[in-house]
Amino acid sequence: MGVFSTDSFDNHESVSFFSDADTGLRAIIAVHSSRLGAAVGGCRMYPYSSEGAAIDDALRLSRGMTYKSALAGLPMGGGKAVIIGDPSADKTPALLRAFGDCVERLGGRYVTAEDSGTTVADMACIAERTRFVSGLNAGPSRHGGDPSPYTAYGVFRGIQQAWRVKKGETATLAGCRVLVQGAGAVGRHLIALLIAEGAQVMAADINADNLQKSVAMGASAIAQDEVFSVATDIFAPCAMGSVFTTANVMSIQAEVIAGAANNQLEGPEVAKILARRGILYAPDFAINAGGIIDVYYQRSGGEHRQVISHIERTVSVLEQILRRAQCEQRDTHSVAEEMAEQRLLQGGEGPLKTAASGSLHQVGM
Ligand code: NAI
Repeated sequence: MGVFSTDSFDNHESVSFFSDADTGLRAIIAVHSSRLGAAVGGCRMYPYSSEGAAIDDALRLSRGMTYKSALAGLPMGGGKAVIIGDPSADKTPALLRAFGDCVERLGGRYVTAEDSGTTVADMACIAERTRFVSGLNAGPSRHGGDPSPYTAYGVFRGIQQAWRVKKGETATLAGCRVLVQGAGAVGRHLIALLIAEGAQVMAADINADNLQKSVAMGASAIAQDEVFSVATDIFAPCAMGSVFTTANVMSIQAEVIAGAANNQLEGPEVAKILARRGILYAPDFAINAGGIIDVYYQRSGGEHRQVISHIERTVSVLEQILRRAQCEQRDTHSVAEEMAEQRLLQGGEGPLKTAASGSLHQVGM
């Protein structure tokens, strides 16, 4: 299959393919844009059904990272790595070290971190071979380098904001029904925050252990075939991408969609259907930047409180997106893309610029 001709190709700066016969490593690293700084994005390990699916994921995810960092006011570009394989069966220290060699070969144009299928311990293994890795800093209140709790916190604050935009300034999540699809690293932290806020949480997961853990936390379990039809106030997708399609989006009962998963929409047309149906969609790359913000501060030597205050600023940006979409009667996804593109065009300057400054190259990479 080609790369340049696929729908997901968006003038990516580079797409690199790596293999290592000794360890069985097959990896793709896509750098979408380094306009605002080194391309940063997690390394996903997943048993893709085909090479085409892996390429597609790397292309879409790296583009999403460019938009996410731009919108969050971070001096970083967008990149992503995918390793083709089942993390529970194929992941070995030797394979991870071989992946570290691949990252090192790119000379700092791409910086890796955790994503679905990789962990903090994996990053330590990768770091044996490259400096260009994040997610290792175990400073105080830093969750041992794992960015997932920060992602969950940002999503939680974004859900609160979206609910207020939808229902009015005094609306809270107490008593609200929230469906969390995917009770993994982010989903579980999110469930804890929602339950503490008094929300009635429903959880769905294809992994029986993860589902059980969320039930133990106080969520009620929902079967896979109920996810797109169950009555809920808020749908929080925290599993994999392309959750919402032109087909299933018609049966969704929620008033708000706001969650951590990257690339939640099968395509931009789904956002238009959601807008027509009156379902308020919080664009994924606008709400799930907590993890990448933590990665930035980990590398630049920042503290927990800086991460939190930066996340709070992204909640204000999300509010701007949602209100502008309402005002202009547009879908939220296209408004968010436009705002991110504006910042890219301005080279990081402009109304969305935040306190983060400098680039990762300047802070010790
Ligand atoms: P994870 O791999 O720890 O958790 C994903 C969970 O979703 C697993 O429990 C898995 O069994 C479940 N799952 C997979 N397919 C499913 C399906 N069809 N239905 C229901 N459950 C399903 O991943 P993590 O780190 O929690 O990330 C979740 C999503 O959030 C991913 O899309 C990831 O790219 C995105 N994200 C994660 C960030 C992070 O800091 N970890 C940062 C930004 C985005």
